[in-house]
Amino acid sequence: MKLILLGAPGAGKGTQAKLISDYYAIPHISTGDIFRSNIKSGTELGKKAKAFIDAGALVPDELTVDLVLDALSAPECMGGCILDGFPRTIAQAEALDAAMKAASDAIDCCIDIEVPDEVIIERMSGRRVCPSCGASYHTVNVPPKTEGICDSCSAALVIRKDDEPGTVKARLDTYHEQTQPLIGYYTAQGKNIVIDGMHSPEEVFSEIKEKLG
Ligand code: AP5
Ligand code: MG
Repeated sequence: MKLILLGAPGAGKGTQAKLISDYYAIPHISTGDIFRSNIKSGTELGKKAKAFIDAGALVPDELTVDLVLDALSAPECMGGCILDGFPRTIAQAEALDAAMKAASDAIDCCIDIEVPDEVIIERMSGRRVCPSCGASYHTVNVPPKTEGICDSCSAALVIRKDDEPGTVKARLDTYHEQTQPLIGYYTAQGKNIVIDGMHSPEEVFSEIKEKLG
């Protein structure tokens, strides 16, 4: 099963991707996580991506597409995968379709998680992430067992740099301009399923499982 998760920043893509990956036993590929890990380890890719991410803009397609196609060609992705945060532009979706077609493969389904902008802003302001294992929490909605400490690896939680209010607004504008058109793209292919992201993470996941059949 090859799946795409679509949704505004903070809609819960990472939260659902983890649940989907565990339940269906398929790898989780997050372009945001790949960029953040490259920034952390100071690679050339990380240096190039940082300025775009900090400004709430998209990293250029030429730095993003090959990275994902490479990850997708790994043997562990043969049986399926969940793409979180890719594609994010029509050009990325077309490149993905072309590469999959060349391998006699195809995306099965695009899962579009819908959450209104006001709620997105509230979710991002409360998000805390683990700098060590990448786990994501929310101070009110998804709190860790001990305040400020990761449940899985006990590291001190941090606020993501691009979750500052000014950057969140820029990320939302970028989403509406460049990524939302993908809903029409996958609807035209009969592959888009709409999920109401305004329930608890467990309820959202139940709706995803039900609609995937
Ligand atoms: P990326 O890391 O993908 O960020 P994003 O799309 O902005 O999304 P987030 O990770 O912020 O949110 P999410 O939807 O995963 O929500 P989460 O589950 O954490 O990308 C970062 C940057 O990298 C981009 O801005 C861009 O610059 C660059 N980039 C990445 N991919 C790219 C590409 N393909 N092309 C070009 N550039 C690219 O949840 C959010 C919060 O809400 C958490 O606190 C969580 O605990 C809470 N929460 C989750 N679900 C619920 C729920 N159901 N109810 C209540 N709270 C919830
Ligand atoms: Mg995410």
